[in-house]
Amino acid sequence: MCGIIGIVTGHPVVTGLISSLKLLEYRGYDSAGIATMQDGQVWRERAAGKLANLEKKIKDDGVSEGGIGIGHTRWATHGAPTEGNAHPHIVDNVIIVHNGIIENYAELRDELIKNGANIQSQTDTEVIGHLISNQLKIDSNIETAVQTAVGRLTGAFALAIMIKGEENLLIGARKGCPLVVGIGDVEGHYIGSDALALSPFSRQIIYLEEGDFVFATRQNFRVFDQAGTLVTRDVNHVEVQSATMDKGNHKHFMAKEFFEQPDVVQKTLSHYLDMKSNQVTLDSKLDISKFERIVMVSCGTAYLAACVAKYWLEENVNMSVEVDVASEFRYRKPALNEKCLFVVISQSGETADSLAALRMAKNKGCTTLAIVNVPTSTMAREADIILPTFAGIEVCVASTKAFMCQISVLAALSIGLGVQIGRLSHADATSMAKQLAQLPRLINDCFAVEKDIVKLAHEIANVEHVLFLGRNTSYPIAMEGALKLKEITYIHAEGYAAGELKHGPIALVDENMPLIIIAPDNEVYEKTRSNIEEIAARGGDITVLTTQKRAKEIQKLGLKAIALPDCSSFLAPFIYTVPVQLLAYHTAVHMGTDVDQPRNLAKSVTVE
Ligand code: G6P
Repeated sequence: MCGIIGIVTGHPVVTGLISSLKLLEYRGYDSAGIATMQDGQVWRERAAGKLANLEKKIKDDGVSEGGIGIGHTRWATHGAPTEGNAHPHIVDNVIIVHNGIIENYAELRDELIKNGANIQSQTDTEVIGHLISNQLKIDSNIETAVQTAVGRLTGAFALAIMIKGEENLLIGARKGCPLVVGIGDVEGHYIGSDALALSPFSRQIIYLEEGDFVFATRQNFRVFDQAGTLVTRDVNHVEVQSATMDKGNHKHFMAKEFFEQPDVVQKTLSHYLDMKSNQVTLDSKLDISKFERIVMVSCGTAYLAACVAKYWLEENVNMSVEVDVASEFRYRKPALNEKCLFVVISQSGETADSLAALRMAKNKGCTTLAIVNVPTSTMAREADIILPTFAGIEVCVASTKAFMCQISVLAALSIGLGVQIGRLSHADATSMAKQLAQLPRLINDCFAVEKDIVKLAHEIANVEHVLFLGRNTSYPIAMEGALKLKEITYIHAEGYAAGELKHGPIALVDENMPLIIIAPDNEVYEKTRSNIEEIAARGGDITVLTTQKRAKEIQKLGLKAIALPDCSSFLAPFIYTVPVQLLAYHTAVHMGTDVDQPRNLAKSVTVE
């Protein structure tokens, strides 16, 4: 989602702004812009579409450098992704970029128009510029004027602001959306959406807290909290390598990232499993005997990780497990109390709805546990217990390796809690831990199906709809397969419980409907096999993902089957995720869509 960068160094900033915006590209955006100030002049350039368009305009129009500047990649919320709606916005002396949504923007806009304001764009951001500009007319103290004006906003935001004529002052504010401050490796200060954006310039990072304002000059900076009190925030030494943004030998980040899965799963598991003793170690604060149920909440692919874990936790811990998407959960009135273990799962640790759900659960007295990939994220800082994933930076908008690491942690969690509660014996736990230890090798073996998947992908590239089916833990993997396919190919796909097919979707089945059926050889295989027969009887175009032995049987029926490595029922969600990721990827490559930055999507969804 929108990316923010601000630089005040006194030295030319345009190259730095652009290199930071490139590091923020992965979050997803549809227009971009920068503004700099020099000798009392403001210079701004904006463009719809990719950063390359902005760079071209900067080159064509001739760069007017400055020693201070702000930049932005915009993911449109209010107003189409046009140049006119792109940030920075300029209102009188105020130059502003914004991430988030201002909820009371319509009433503020009406009030401003009534008072004669000339509003140029359809954005909520411009309204903030007007509020600050008006306040500066009645309060010449920039710090208090900005705090008063921003104090009128409801909703979520991160802001970077410059004031014309103040060429040694960069202002930032955050509420609901992340914003960090970087102390320059050489003189100067920076503000940005994440530490990665500041990695070319700074390793000394301050994570602003909810409601904070920062006023930074080349020489120093001051942070005020929501109440307007001058505060000190910790400075963290962060080593973020922008080199990790390299695709290596791969054409796309997505390919690089799913081929990294054996390594990152190994790294993640080794944090929880003692590979010698095959024991699972969890955070010592986690005591399952305090709880009566588990509630798991997340969004997108992370939600599907929770859906997989529901099967494991119910079986291994024998506790009721509720799973919901955060955007629904947070507006329901769920019965939550201190007997409830609340688990939030998030790659970024910043997703607005998941964060709001976490806060709601905390307020209701739940113990909160966050499974997050970014250890410095807001969720990681706010949850009572953190179980980190070690996927490394995930750049492709469509999540692959982060999902695999999430289910790795969840599998370990289900074993650890199962032992704690006495549902699993040590022998059971050891056997399951031993199975998990095989994952890096097994996941690696799965890539052998790539050739078969490429063939299937070329067929799928010609269709408009695809159904993915599965039972038990293969059901969420079917949904993940459908989600990956629609995200990066724009083909309509649905993931369905195989047994539910006959209650509706079977009406869609004919020879033009491809069905991908995820059928590991487990306790529900025969049931899925019956569903395969039902679909075959109606002429559906079936491909079954299964084991070698079962694939042969299926092929004898004249149906397509792709054989995956043999694995236990417990490991099946890991193994069967690989082919559905590969299928989405190769279909997208064949169709020529933007694999890493699909249209309309964002990596870090910091608005509701
Ligand atoms: C976005 C991304 C998805 C991701 C979801 C949740 O929609 O495009 O890939 O699964 O957000 O993100 P989170 O960072 O909370 O895991």
